[in-house]
This record gives sequence, C-alpha cells and structure tokens, in this order.
Amino acid sequence: MTKIDMASFVRALPKAELHLHIEGTLEPEMTFELAAKHGIQLPYANVAALRSAYNFSNLQSFLDIYYQGVQVLKDADDFFQLTHAYLKRAHNDGVVHVEIFFDPQSHLERGIPLSVVFEGMNRALVGGERELGISYRVIPCFLRHLSEAAAMQTLEALLPYREYICAVGLDSSENGHPPSKFSRVFARAREEGLLTVAHAGEEGPPSYIWEALDDLKVSRIDHGVGCEADEALCQRLASEHMPLTVCPVSNIKLAVFDRMESHNLKRLLQRGLCVTVSSDDPAYFGGYELDNLLAVQQALGLSREDMVTLARNSIEASFLSTAEKQVWQKMIGKCADTLMSAE
Ligand code: ADE
Ligand code: ZN
Repeated sequence: MTKIDMASFVRALPKAELHLHIEGTLEPEMTFELAAKHGIQLPYANVAALRSAYNFSNLQSFLDIYYQGVQVLKDADDFFQLTHAYLKRAHNDGVVHVEIFFDPQSHLERGIPLSVVFEGMNRALVGGERELGISYRVIPCFLRHLSEAAAMQTLEALLPYREYICAVGLDSSENGHPPSKFSRVFARAREEGLLTVAHAGEEGPPSYIWEALDDLKVSRIDHGVGCEADEALCQRLASEHMPLTVCPVSNIKLAVFDRMESHNLKRLLQRGLCVTVSSDDPAYFGGYELDNLLAVQQALGLSREDMVTLARNSIEASFLSTAEKQVWQKMIGKCADTLMSAE
C-alpha cells in the first residue's frame, strides 16, 4: 500500500473541535448576504474590502470587527444558516464532535432574544447530528469586558434554556478583566450543575490561568499558551491533565506569537500537557480545524503519532460521556493502525 499523505491522514482521524465561536464562523460572503436581507448598510464596499480589513494587531483589534459582524445576525434562520455552514466545513475536516461557544450578550444587547439564537442554532445542530453524524454541546460565554452584574443577569436569562447548554465560558478582552471578577457568577452556574471553561493566558498573564482553575473551577482552559512563563503552573496543568484548547492560527493572526514556527504547542505537548487544537474564529483568521492542525504539523514538524495524540486529547477533553469517549478512542486507534500500517 502506498503511504497516505499527511493531510489525508489528519483529516481521517476522528476529532473534536472544542474552541469555536459560532459568531466567528461568519464568512464575509454571508455577512453581505444577511446585511442585504435585513437592509443593513455595511461600512465596506464589498466582500474583498471586508476581508482585507481582517488584518489584526492584537485581540482587541479583532474583537472590534467581530462585534461589528455580529450585527447582521437577526433571526433564527440567520443562526441556522451560520451554524449549518460551519458544520459542513467541520465535517469535511473529519470533525465528529463540536462544542460551540456563543456570546449571548452580543445578541441580547441588540434586542435579539435568546429564543431566536437557540431556535436557529439548535435546528442546525440537530440536523447536523442526523445528517453528518456530528454530536455537539453548546457553551454560552460571558463577555468579560462587561460587568459581573451583567454576566449574572445573562446567566439568569440562560437558565430557562438550561437543557440546551452544558457549560458556561468567559471570553472577550482579556487584559484588565481577570477571571476572579466572575467568581460569583461561575459559582452560581456550578450550583445549576453547569461545567465551566474560560479563556485565560491568550494575551493575559499566568495569574489569570491560576484564577480560572482556582476561582472558576474550570474543566478546560481556552488558549492557555501563556502558561509557559510559570513553571509551577505548567507542572500543575500537566499533573491534572488539564486540557488547553489551543488555537494556533488565531494566535498568529492576533500576534500572540510572531510566526507559527515560534508557537509553543510542541513544547507543551512534550511536557505532557493535554493540548488540543481548535480554530477559534475561522472566518476571521482564515483557517478551520484541518488548516490549524496542518499549520502546526508543518511549522513544528509534528509526527503522525503527535497528530494521533492531538486527536485523542480532543476527545478526552470533550464533554462527551465516558462511554462515547471510549467509542471514539477505539475508532482513533483503528484509524491510526490502518493508516500507519499502510506506510
Ligand atoms: N471572542 C471570540 N474570539 C475570541 C478570542 N480569541 N479571545 C477572546 N474572546 C473571543
Ligand atoms: Zn476563543
């Protein structure tokens, strides 16, 4: 048998995407289509002009454009279309399970009720599971640049939709907004039986990762690449096998690392951390799940065994049940055995 190429190998491995903002999958073509549908005037002449504005210097410069894009999402069909398009892309990359973030406050503040968001998103997710075999979880995130009180109010508004969500998260502008600002909100979420995750150590200091662990009691750290500056933290993350949902293309586009060859993903993997790979906001950063995996593979010279580890970590770090995880781990083993024995 001839040796299968790396891209086909990585695509074939069953994998989970655990760090994906659904609003960040809004491609410029869809932005223009929905703007026309709703009679919204965009401050860009055309798709190419909008795409050329996707030139970011840091997290905030991205968030300013991302929150502008969200304005075209108005009815349940828009959320359906957005989610459906993402699921088709993910399926093509061999993604079998997704855990999708959304930002309830960015919709509520525009007068879009949560019922509209959930109706459209869930219709696409249920259809995606039936037609593409992709299982899913939904994780609303609080905007950390807003107040604790606003987050608490948002949590209360989410509780009628408790059955549709498995966890809560924390995103938006990191510096100046430590996780501890939301300790009481996350405690309340945990009382409701919700799991917790938080963006930490994307641009922010290691102390934010400590706070996410100790104050918010998270099950995963989103990004977390800033941990390397703190040896004791790295040891803790490794010993607890605490997952990091690393987004390599995002990290380059937002200048967290200057080039992919300087990314610390391989070092973190070699230290035994539970590293996973996700696409964050693929429409804005120009890379979906497979693009992210292949970008780090090539830049850091990751082996096929490393790619199998990343796939295994993604399933292990997911919020699937133990039985579901076992099924996928077996599938990954079979897939790796078959494809690696063809070498
Ligand atoms: N919201 C969407 N993408 C984000 C990111 N990478 N970091 C923080 N907040 C976000
Ligand atoms: Zn993110």
